[in-house]
Amino acid sequence: MSGATLAVIAIAVAWSVAVGLVGAALAWTVRRRSVRWSAAILGLVAVAGIAAGVLGTARAMFLSDHDFAVVITVCAVSGVVSVGVAVWLGEQVVASARRLRDAAINFGEGGEFVGPANGPREFAEIARELTRSSDRLRSSAERERHLEESRRELVAWVSHDLRTPLAGIRAMAEALEDGLADDPARYRAQMRTEVDRMVRMVDDLFELSRIHAGSLQLTPQTVALGDLVSEAIAWADPVARSKGVRVGGSVDSGVLVRGDPDALARVVSNLVMNAIRHTPSDGAVEIHARATPAAVELAVTDACGGIPDADLGRVFDVAWRGGHARTPGDDVGAGLGLAIVKGLVEAHRGTVAVSNRAPGCQFVVTIPA
Ligand SMILES: Nc1ncnc2c1ncn2[C@@H]1O[C@H](COP(=O)(O)OP(=O)(O)OP(=O)(O)O)[C@@H](O)[C@H]1O
Ligand SMILES: [Mg+2]
Repeated sequence: MSGATLAVIAIAVAWSVAVGLVGAALAWTVRRRSVRWSAAILGLVAVAGIAAGVLGTARAMFLSDHDFAVVITVCAVSGVVSVGVAVWLGEQVVASARRLRDAAINFGEGGEFVGPANGPREFAEIARELTRSSDRLRSSAERERHLEESRRELVAWVSHDLRTPLAGIRAMAEALEDGLADDPARYRAQMRTEVDRMVRMVDDLFELSRIHAGSLQLTPQTVALGDLVSEAIAWADPVARSKGVRVGGSVDSGVLVRGDPDALARVVSNLVMNAIRHTPSDGAVEIHARATPAAVELAVTDACGGIPDADLGRVFDVAWRGGHARTPGDDVGAGLGLAIVKGLVEAHRGTVAVSNRAPGCQFVVTIPA
């Protein structure tokens, strides 16, 4: 390479770098302004770098004045064109950013993000992320609304369920006080039954609120499922006998489950009591438990005649209790038992499911081994 060529390269580098540095400084000063400024500076620097190189090396290249004027004219024209294109590109980016911003504003106001149809890939990625957040937000708002609704329903039902027996107890107490009760012993027994029912309900509500607040204190131990089931059967036996319902079952020998013994006993007894309550006399309730490689499974099957398909998804809802009218005196529960079962089973990282199985339905609890 000749010395003249080297000199030309050196001069061109020096001028272009100088222009580049000035361009970088300008870009730095406008970094917080609209992107269209950066785009314009980019277009300008690209051409100004070439023009400066040519100007600087004009003498070394031995250009005639005419050629020099031609080169400068070409540079000026292409400068205008490239700045124009750069500004246009900048405008496209600005327009895309505006569309994204408007969609984000609507998102903030309406709670739903509808991303712009087109735009550069980076913006499309942001839009995709926002759409995902919007979906998550919508489903959590939906959950929140559902929860709030069931909480309101629960308060209404619970106050009804407490007010009715309380009114009955007050009437009976007044009758006893006034000596108007024709059968005082029966009144006292009935008052006792009502109070027991209310105590049970308040206990259930307390348990449920602890489950929902996440303040449940579980003490996991290794529990023999056979013991758990036979205790539940023994406990439910008097009720089953008085109704004429047979309760039986089988548990694979040596099935162990890790969990809180009281909570698990509660799960089994709630399911068994429900099964007995909904099985007509002469019907049978079966409890089976077995161990699979990954989990322990407990199934309670009854002869309730089946749960309507539309209700299958609701039985675990708080305070839901089928088609029973909430009339005082009849033996219907508060609709808390299965919500407690679900909460306790989930606290053991397990699942509970219900399905119809002639002549009744089956509740299956699965707890990971
Ligand atoms: N084994 C079952 N067979 C048929 N229906 C059932 C059975 N278990 C529950 N159900 C239905 O699901 C509803 C909710 O059951 P859940 O145990 O939560 O409440 P409950 O038994 O009515 O009251 P609580 O358990 O609070 O005393 C019941 O009212 C009933 O309609
Ligand atoms: Mg129940």
